[in-house]
Amino acid sequence: MGYNIAIDGPAGAGKSTIARKTAKQLGFIYVDTGAMYRAMGVFLMREGIDPADADAVSAKCTEADITIRYENGEQVVYLNGENVNSVIRTEQAGTMASLTSQNPDVRKKLVELQQRLAADADVVMDGRDIGTCVLPDAQVKVYLTAGSRVRAKRRYDELAAKGESCDIEKIEADIIERDRQDMTREISPLRQAEDAVLVDSSDMTIEEVAARIMELVSDTVD
Ligand code: DC
Repeated sequence: MGYNIAIDGPAGAGKSTIARKTAKQLGFIYVDTGAMYRAMGVFLMREGIDPADADAVSAKCTEADITIRYENGEQVVYLNGENVNSVIRTEQAGTMASLTSQNPDVRKKLVELQQRLAADADVVMDGRDIGTCVLPDAQVKVYLTAGSRVRAKRRYDELAAKGESCDIEKIEADIIERDRQDMTREISPLRQAEDAVLVDSSDMTIEEVAARIMELVSDTVD
């Protein structure tokens, strides 16, 4: 087994920023599992599948071939041979991912892919169930969170920087709803693993969070 770092937490807590930075610092591979669920969500959406129809989701998900390649050090997600990196970043894809990731067949398929990627490589993997289900033996487990208002404000600033108009109240309401969906689902709900370290980034900078994780890594090699 390679050296595995698992970072879980709710939407908008800064997982991907921190995981990417940590992977770069350590020379590890960054695996963004949310991107895989988003690719599956896009596939099912394009196929016109109702996310509430569990049988239809189970039957159709077998037709999605999701693969990951690393190009210039960045993860590129392929859906049936098509690069979907930009398509998966919409709110709609996120919502569809959250709904369809509740399906056991979707999870089984993607968890297997994630475990294969981590089997022989040093990885920083982020998601919702990495410390609890995907990599239960990870050397470092972090549960990264922040208050919903702080997370909404970060998202608001991101959108505003891109020149998109948005409403912070609506963003916060969406974040709270996504947390609820991810935390209350039956299979592999979002929760802190017993051996995960809680990091609340509400009042921390990206650099402070990254330094905290490097500290946890150092503790395991002493
Ligand atoms: O991290 P994200 O916003 O890209 O994830 C999109 C959705 O995918 C999230 O709301 C729930 C689901 N997901 C999951 O169920 N398990 C993971 N390991 C990662 C994401």
